[in-house]
Amino acid sequence: MKKLKTPKQFAVVVTLVLSVLFVVISLLLNFFFNEEVNLINLLIVAIAFFVISYFILLAFLERLITSKIRLLYRVIHTNEPNKKEREFSMSKDVLGEAEREVMKWGQKKSKEIERLKEQEQFRREFLGNLAHELKTPIFSIQGYILTLLEGGLEDEKINLTFLERANKGVDRITKVVEDLDLITEIESGRLVLNQKITNIVSLSKDVLDSFEIKAKKRKVSLKLTTEFEQQNVFCDKDKIEQVLINLINNSINYGSENGLTEVRLFDAEDHVLIEVSDDGLGIASEHLQRLFERFYRVDKSRARHEGGTGLGLSIAKHIIEAHKQSINVRSEVGKGSVFYFYLKKA
Ligand SMILES: Nc1ncnc2c1ncn2[C@@H]1O[C@H](COP(=O)(O)OP(=O)(O)OP(=O)(O)O)[C@@H](O)[C@H]1O
Ligand SMILES: [Mg+2]
Repeated sequence: MKKLKTPKQFAVVVTLVLSVLFVVISLLLNFFFNEEVNLINLLIVAIAFFVISYFILLAFLERLITSKIRLLYRVIHTNEPNKKEREFSMSKDVLGEAEREVMKWGQKKSKEIERLKEQEQFRREFLGNLAHELKTPIFSIQGYILTLLEGGLEDEKINLTFLERANKGVDRITKVVEDLDLITEIESGRLVLNQKITNIVSLSKDVLDSFEIKAKKRKVSLKLTTEFEQQNVFCDKDKIEQVLINLINNSINYGSENGLTEVRLFDAEDHVLIEVSDDGLGIASEHLQRLFERFYRVDKSRARHEGGTGLGLSIAKHIIEAHKQSINVRSEVGKGSVFYFYLKKA
């Protein structure tokens, strides 16, 4: 039975068996009733029986299979409304094909369910993180405002300080919202890169210079090492500036005091390799994989103390990926970290 794959083969075998039975029964009946057997006639009748029953059986099979399988295909292809109704050839393995297609459909569906479950989990985590991120500054603002309302406003010693602190909380909320806005813009595909020829040497120098005051406060030295005098790359200048800001900011925040933050530019054939390094804390290998996820922080208390929300690297990753490149990190605990990415030369 395993070899019978097509409805036609099935019809041939069944009608053949029936025809043989027909001949045997005829012979037996003739034998019991002692009648002369005309073998030629019997053979002609048997062949006619075979041919007619073959076509009748095939027609029934075709109607049955077509109507059932068509329904099945209609169900599994509900998302393809304009798909033409299929024709089924009775000389092909239509049932086997349907079985394979249903299996494929089942596997696709279970992958989809898996993906939806992951998304749901991600969404829940995301909302939890977001609520947490906003709660901290909101409570602190509320605390300062309440104290001011309850008489603090008249107290010259605290009124200005408390207002400044409340303002810091507002700044923090603004930063989270702006960062999230940017991430959403990139993820929903609304971000259009404005790619232009950009001098990466001067861009790196400008961004480094803008950190002079912050670096001085933490006694961190800033250094630019470059293999080029000038080098143009093709990129969205503002967005790459944002990436450099995020990386340099991290390297100062998580680097060691009296340490060194270095931006290095290397020639990598038709690309420029851009590295931002520090000689600070370093990152243990178990964190490296998740580092670029939204809200991920290695040392939560320290990062929060530095004003971090855990969105900086996630934004950097999105921007670099929008440039069809990737961003990576190598790091050793206690020695420091190097974040690096490539940009195409112009
Ligand atoms: N150079 C670095 N050295 C050590 N740890 C780092 C470094 N850069 C990032 N990290 C770790 O990775 C985490 C994620 O960094 P990310 O820049 O995404 O967020 P953040 O700095 O906490 O907040 P922000 O959104 O303000 O940048 C940080 O909290 C920190 O724990
Ligand atoms: Mg950061």
